[in-house]
Amino acid sequence: MLDLLIKNARLAGGDTQLNDIAVQGGKIVEVAPQIDGEAGRVLDVKGYLVTAPFVDSHFHMDATLTYGRPRVNESGTLLEGIALWSEVKPILDAGDIKSRAHELCRWAVANGNLAIRSHVDICDPSLLAVDALLEVVDEVKPYLDLQLVAFPQDGFYRDPEAEELLVRALDKGVHVVGGIPHFERTMQDGAASITALCQLAADRGLMVDMHCDESDDPMSRHVEMLARETSRFGLEGRVTGSHLTSMHSMDNYYVSKLMALMAEAELHAVANPLINITLQGRHDTYPKRRGMTRVKELMAADINVAFGHDCVMDPWYSLGSHDMLEVASMGLHVGQMTGQAEMRNMFKAVTSNGAKALGLESYGLEVGCNADLVVLQARDEIEALRLRPARLHVFRRGAEIASTPPQISTVHMMGEDHSVDFFL
Ligand code: FE2
Repeated sequence: MLDLLIKNARLAGGDTQLNDIAVQGGKIVEVAPQIDGEAGRVLDVKGYLVTAPFVDSHFHMDATLTYGRPRVNESGTLLEGIALWSEVKPILDAGDIKSRAHELCRWAVANGNLAIRSHVDICDPSLLAVDALLEVVDEVKPYLDLQLVAFPQDGFYRDPEAEELLVRALDKGVHVVGGIPHFERTMQDGAASITALCQLAADRGLMVDMHCDESDDPMSRHVEMLARETSRFGLEGRVTGSHLTSMHSMDNYYVSKLMALMAEAELHAVANPLINITLQGRHDTYPKRRGMTRVKELMAADINVAFGHDCVMDPWYSLGSHDMLEVASMGLHVGQMTGQAEMRNMFKAVTSNGAKALGLESYGLEVGCNADLVVLQARDEIEALRLRPARLHVFRRGAEIASTPPQISTVHMMGEDHSVDFFL
């Protein structure tokens, strides 16, 4: 007998045909237009969209939900955010970090986000947040995959203790090597940090994910170096450049060369549309730059592009509910990706492209994949982007871990009651 049989699903990434999905032992065992058989639960989703879970490819779990502590970022700038974070760090304790992370994970699960890559600031001699979040990784494992990146917020070389602390964090079990080359004192120091961090990852068999060229500086050249060192250390497909915002300001000829190097190194690019549009371009008058990397062109160059939420109610960003469809919608607007195929690519940036960047195994809607499934109150990806609809059901390994009632309004107009679901 099957554990779960989902009937009449429209599959994300598929055509308009409806399919049934059979689940047994936490895995998808069959996908076909008509599956008959006994099941512990039969769920008719009546043509709604079923997707593999949303993936947040870039987050900061240690800072999240600290909004207002001890004050809010009134200017909204990156620099005030960094200054504010240095005020928040000394007042954190392990219990507080864990309880905020647990709350954020509940928001994530409610939204169908079952994989998060979170950077954790290792520039703290106590490594308090590293220890706390490693515990959270294990605690939330039944519900979502939380991957940690050792992130030297104050600079791998600029902070004299960061090199040793980063190695200690990896020794404790942090999964991915981080970096922040544009924050080092010089371009040369940034380049040297990329070499050292890629060497570290190669020696330990780890992935790399660096905050890279997160500025408006058209001459920032760290992603070029990241691509070079990725190839030199044989790390192809295991390295992510996060943000890459300076690419929006670079010379077009130079970018045409750069993207070929990135493709050759099989770099993953992660943009954070909500944060990029609010933090970048702050020194501009008008015209004012948008600040997001060249998502459309990177995708056209066959580079895997995923999106992250980056921040939710923290020193850098006062808003957010960890809804990856809000992220995708912002990416769509900022990148002017309004064609049908482009909009579907925005959906992929918060689902399958993220899974690829994180190296998730058994992710997807094919037979043999984990039965991690999200049912949306929408009929296709474009409608999902337009409506940011209810996540009606969220399944992890075939078990329902979150549900939301359908959202339908009743409108009283012209003497009649009308149901409004915003479907055309
Ligand atoms: Fe970040």
